Amino acid sequence: MGRVYYVSKNVGLGMLVLATIALATIIALSIAYDKERAKNRGKPENEATDSTSMPTPLTTPSTPKEPWDHYRLPDSLVPVSYNVTLWPRLRPNADGMYLFTGYSAVIFSCVKETDLIIIHSNKLNLTNFYGHHAKLSGLGDATAPTIQKTWLVVKTHYLVLQLRSALAVGASYVLHTEFQGELADDLEGFYRSEYTEDGVKKVVATSQMQATYARKTFPCFDEPAMKAVFTVTIIHDQGTVALSNGREIGTADSVIDGMPLRVTTFEPTERMSTYLLAFIVSDFVNIQSTQNSNLLIRIWARRKAIEDRQGDYALNVTGPILQFYEHYYNATYPLSKSDQIALPDFNAGAMENWGLVTYRETALLYDPIMSSTGNKERITTVIAHELAHMWFGNLVTLQWWNDLWLNEGFASYVEYLGADYAEPTWNIKDQIILYDVHKVFAVDALASSHPLSRREEEVNTPAQISEMFNTISYSKGAAVLRMLSEFLTEPVFAKGLSSYLNTFAFGNTVYTDLWDHLQQAVKNTPGMHIPHTVHNIMNRWTLQMGFPVVTIDTRTGSITQKHFLLDPDSVVDRPSQFNYTWFVPIKWMKTGVEQQQHWLLQKTDAHIQMRVSGEDWVLANTNVSGYFRVNYDLDNWDRLLSLLNTNHQALSIINRAQIIDDAFNLARAKIINTTLALRTSKYLAKERDYIPWESALRNLDYYILMFDRTEVYGALQLYLKKQIQPLFEYFKTITANWTKVPTGHTDRYNQINAIGIACSMGVDGCRELIKSWYRQWMESPHHNPIHPNLKTTVYCSAIAFGGVEEWDFAWRMFKNATLASEAVRLRSAMACTKVPWLLNSYGRGSFSFSNLVNGITKRFSTDFELQELKKFKEDNLHVGFGSATLALEQAIEKTTANIKWVTENKAHVLKWFTEEST
Ligand SMILES: *[C@@H]1O[C@H](CO)[C@@H](O)[C@H](O)[C@H]1NC(C)=O
Ligand SMILES: *[C@@H]1O[C@H](CO)[C@@H](O)[C@H](O)[C@H]1NC(C)=O
Ligand SMILES: *[C@@H]1O[C@H](CO)[C@@H](O)[C@H](O)[C@H]1NC(C)=O
Ligand SMILES: *[C@@H]1O[C@H](CO)[C@@H](O)[C@H](O)[C@H]1NC(C)=O
Ligand SMILES: *[C@@H]1O[C@H](CO)[C@@H](O)[C@H](O)[C@H]1NC(C)=O
Ligand SMILES: *[C@@H]1O[C@H](CO)[C@@H](O)[C@H](O)[C@H]1NC(C)=O
Ligand SMILES: *[C@@H]1O[C@H](CO)[C@@H](O)[C@H](O)[C@H]1NC(C)=O
Ligand SMILES: [Zn+2]
Repeated sequence: MGRVYYVSKNVGLGMLVLATIALATIIALSIAYDKERAKNRGKPENEATDSTSMPTPLTTPSTPKEPWDHYRLPDSLVPVSYNVTLWPRLRPNADGMYLFTGYSAVIFSCVKETDLIIIHSNKLNLTNFYGHHAKLSGLGDATAPTIQKTWLVVKTHYLVLQLRSALAVGASYVLHTEFQGELADDLEGFYRSEYTEDGVKKVVATSQMQATYARKTFPCFDEPAMKAVFTVTIIHDQGTVALSNGREIGTADSVIDGMPLRVTTFEPTERMSTYLLAFIVSDFVNIQSTQNSNLLIRIWARRKAIEDRQGDYALNVTGPILQFYEHYYNATYPLSKSDQIALPDFNAGAMENWGLVTYRETALLYDPIMSSTGNKERITTVIAHELAHMWFGNLVTLQWWNDLWLNEGFASYVEYLGADYAEPTWNIKDQIILYDVHKVFAVDALASSHPLSRREEEVNTPAQISEMFNTISYSKGAAVLRMLSEFLTEPVFAKGLSSYLNTFAFGNTVYTDLWDHLQQAVKNTPGMHIPHTVHNIMNRWTLQMGFPVVTIDTRTGSITQKHFLLDPDSVVDRPSQFNYTWFVPIKWMKTGVEQQQHWLLQKTDAHIQMRVSGEDWVLANTNVSGYFRVNYDLDNWDRLLSLLNTNHQALSIINRAQIIDDAFNLARAKIINTTLALRTSKYLAKERDYIPWESALRNLDYYILMFDRTEVYGALQLYLKKQIQPLFEYFKTITANWTKVPTGHTDRYNQINAIGIACSMGVDGCRELIKSWYRQWMESPHHNPIHPNLKTTVYCSAIAFGGVEEWDFAWRMFKNATLASEAVRLRSAMACTKVPWLLNSYGRGSFSFSNLVNGITKRFSTDFELQELKKFKEDNLHVGFGSATLALEQAIEKTTANIKWVTENKAHVLKWFTEEST
């Protein structure tokens, strides 16, 4: 599955500056809470896609007695193939209910003697055959035992058949079912998606099977290792089109129950897992191309979107991305077609159904006029992510959900490679630092983190399965696989990967199978040497949580590693068999010269070449190829800082970003002085690149949040104004007085930072510029003069520095927005208001209460706020907070930590900003 971004990537700091006072904030919180509660009465908040949620602690369940009480299927039966026919009704029945009906025949073979058939079925009403829920027949010579009784187990989602005698080992049977289900708008299984076009309500039947929803569509052995061939038939209204994983091979019009209908049949799929199935009925249209003379590539969307050419970009990049993977994996695309479809209402960012990938509209549709560079980049990376799964995940599938991190981490890593091939001028590979490595460092540095890998027995229930879809799986998975590819070198990594994919094609694996194939590739590469096996090295990174900070003392050449914890007072109560030490591959350079990679295999080590003096300096973790932070002795820090100040381009862009991010986080962890961290931001007056600026701003954001209502803020503002001014002028020049779009891809992002920060810090001319653009738009709402790239920042600043009129205009534009990405921009911009009561309007939108709690309380840093927060919790305890309970607890904890940090740092920080801003 793709990842979900709640806030668009390049929002910049401006929108975070919400200058409300605590009391007003609490009032807004209470109002929002009441509305949220009224809206969701009796219904749990849908947080399934909250990728930051942490798994709940494991409890040892009592061992269930009967086979049907286990969440895992018994291993006695193996499916071979299914014939599935589905008929969704896109109009409600007399009771106002949307239904689908269907029938299925599954051929399965018996591999262990049993007189039970246990198959998944959830929320389906099954037709009776002679008093039973299903019909059984033998295949070939086999005679089916008679059915004694059948029943459904709601808790474990099973249909159970008790037979009068046992099935014969080696024989095959056919189980027939007929069923009826609700085509609900619940985004699970076969579901209904509604949208309005030209004032007309339209209904699409679509599906999301991952992880455990195929069983809600038809009775099936719904586990990833239960691969089978699926022959699908869909019955649908004439005038609609049906899609599924296979290519459609026939359509026939016929009259069923007096209704003129169309029956579409599809070619049998390859052997595949149930969670990758997809069924869609819509009136969408497509654009298409063919590749290698026979691979059909289609992009599907609402007719209007296709007519507006919003699918063109996706079609343009799909071919090259597929080509890249065919080459990288050394394996041809396994299917005869590649469909990608944009759905107006879709929960995950995207889903890699084999041959029929589903997307949110914002993740697939690009409007050359309305979309921003960020929108375009997101489309490229999401497509590259999903298409990576066509081989890794779909062709070869992990046996069970405990290994999900390998599937998602892998796609989250190679998406950068695929996107880079399609858009070679973007330098997109560097961005993994911001969007995965730094992002997950923040989570993985907490004592509450958890290891990437879990044992198979630990993951059973659907809830435990969905907990696996979190930042650790996606981003840490990506970061450690990138590290692995870096220390093996890409050709060796790709060789092992290709051997793994070709060996296990159409089958299932466990993560160590990949390690074995990589090890084989190492062995077959002359001159290649690693200090331990791939297996042993990777165990340190996958079986224990967290990551090390490596400290290099260049006065002695000593190197030490230590588990990095953001809060030095936190207590790690999760034991590690490796005692929180890692095998750390350290790529490094001395005074600008790349050195041979050094492996840190113990807690401490010495490497004499790292001993330097005079003008020489050491920089470790070059290109941030390793998943760790680096600290140095003060002398080396000084030399690196002076290098940044005199010749920052001597270091790569991502290492500049890394020095900043490491320093700020080491300061948060009290490993280095806060003023040392702040000193890494001094050279920014000369920095023009996006990634270092973005890193610095993300870190400085905390200072702004903590101090913007204190006497520190004046000096901080003066300092940042001084630092951002040259960047603002630079963009003014290269855009010819703001009339052109910068040519460089990341320049377009940094222009957003330049304007956003310059305006909030009060750089001369910035607010006037923004106001004049927004005014022009208000005067002629049909001619928005603001470039899509700048919209988020301009809207936010205009609303922050404007009043009710600006806000109301945004609200009107939001309600009329036809493009999803424009609606998202307006919605987040409305949160930039400094007029707190406007927040009242939140209740009308679709904000999740947990996100609101996080958003509103992140600047809390006073005792007064802490008391208010605790009072708010107590006052509302009797009604409960549902899934926001955790968010509220965390808010109280974070506020406590913030108060402590502010107390300890305020004086130094004020002194430093005062000295540096003059
Ligand atoms: C599945 O459908 C195919 C073709 O329509 C048919 O030949 C086959 O017998 C069916 N299999 C079962 C088990 O119904
Ligand atoms: C299934 O059967 C129950 C009981 O008859 C009924 O209430 C429910 O609406 C049915 N659901 C569907 C989807 O047909
Ligand atoms: C798609 O590719 C064509 C041909 O190269 C090009 O003319 C067109 O501008 C591209 N469309 C988009 C949206 O990138
Ligand atoms: C690619 O695959 C072919 C066979 O499928 C194999 O002979 C060849 O060595 C592979 N190339 C690489 C670089 O792995
Ligand atoms: C684990 O590390 C700690 C801290 O360095 C050390 O005191 C302890 O002896 C180590 N334990 C094992 C089993 O290596
Ligand atoms: C941090 O640096 C400041 C200024 O250089 C100094 O006054 C302060 O004592 C240092 N704090 C610590 C904990 O070393
Ligand atoms: C830049 O544009 C502004 C308004 O659009 C104008 O007032 C100003 O004179 C221009 N500056 C230059 C140097 O062209
Ligand atoms: Zn994925």
